[in-house]
Amino acid sequence: MHKILVIGAGGQLGTELTKALVNTYGSDAVIATDFQESVKSKFTYCRFKTLDVLDKDAVANLIQEEQVTQVYHLAAILSASGEKNPLQAWDINMRGLLHVLELAREYKIEKVFWPSSIAVFGPNSPKTNTPQDAFKNPTTVYGISKIAGEHWCEYYFNTFGVDVRSLRFPGLIGHKSVAGGGTTDYAVDIYYKAIQEENYTCFLKEGTSLPMMYMEDAVNATLQLMAAPASAITIRSSYNLSGMSFSPREIFESIQLHYPDFSIQYAPDFRQQIADTWPASINDEVARKDWGWRAAFDLPTMTSEIITKLRSYIHKI
Ligand code: SER
Repeated sequence: MHKILVIGAGGQLGTELTKALVNTYGSDAVIATDFQESVKSKFTYCRFKTLDVLDKDAVANLIQEEQVTQVYHLAAILSASGEKNPLQAWDINMRGLLHVLELAREYKIEKVFWPSSIAVFGPNSPKTNTPQDAFKNPTTVYGISKIAGEHWCEYYFNTFGVDVRSLRFPGLIGHKSVAGGGTTDYAVDIYYKAIQEENYTCFLKEGTSLPMMYMEDAVNATLQLMAAPASAITIRSSYNLSGMSFSPREIFESIQLHYPDFSIQYAPDFRQQIADTWPASINDEVARKDWGWRAAFDLPTMTSEIITKLRSYIHKI
């Protein structure tokens, strides 16, 4: 019997991944947790508990009481927020992960999922079709915490046999929850503005191409990776994962096909410097070969789907 603990379930990825885990394994098998009690209302379909991953004893107690078999550890401070308080971001991102890895070892958790990011790459990494093993010199505290975290995951696998699996997510774009504190958040916010028939001011320059992914693809990639036999997983740091790549101008143009009066201005801020250090596109051939990964959504299909979904929510209000 599976018992799945989701840490950080109220965040952008957690909101959709938790639902998919319940659909796959049943509501009795999933416990959603978040340090914010306020997100509890999202989880009408499974159990919810308040949990701070920095409180190791509380995580240990929950693992023991519930006889947890899998952990999805999603709680993190993203790139833009991290630059505002670097030491806090380091502390939350690293201490949280080390608690989970250590408890996984101690309580013999069957499988752990932890997301890494394209932020592990840096200005000296190849800019396009960036390979799995490319040189990495991340410049944000978020990227530094993710590359360190990847090494820790590999260490816990090699040294203690902890079955931890990870994906380097591109910018994730969904319609069920807003993004928080990332450099790629503009690609979520822009749809909300279009739907409300407002103009959008983008914090990146119009030509800045970044790797992105529709949330449904990100959720499917996670489920596929976690369902793969351990023998198929050749990467124990984190897999490159690719969905699509586009610039602010290109996403704007895809939305304009649905909203011809929609307009955009560009007012780049400190997030432009972060974006400039990241790849424009990612080579994910290892994920494709190892566990059969293929993204389903491109920019036009994602835009059509998000606009249809957002319109239906607005009409229900
Ligand atoms: N979406 C993340 C960010 O912008 C990248 O992993 O910080």
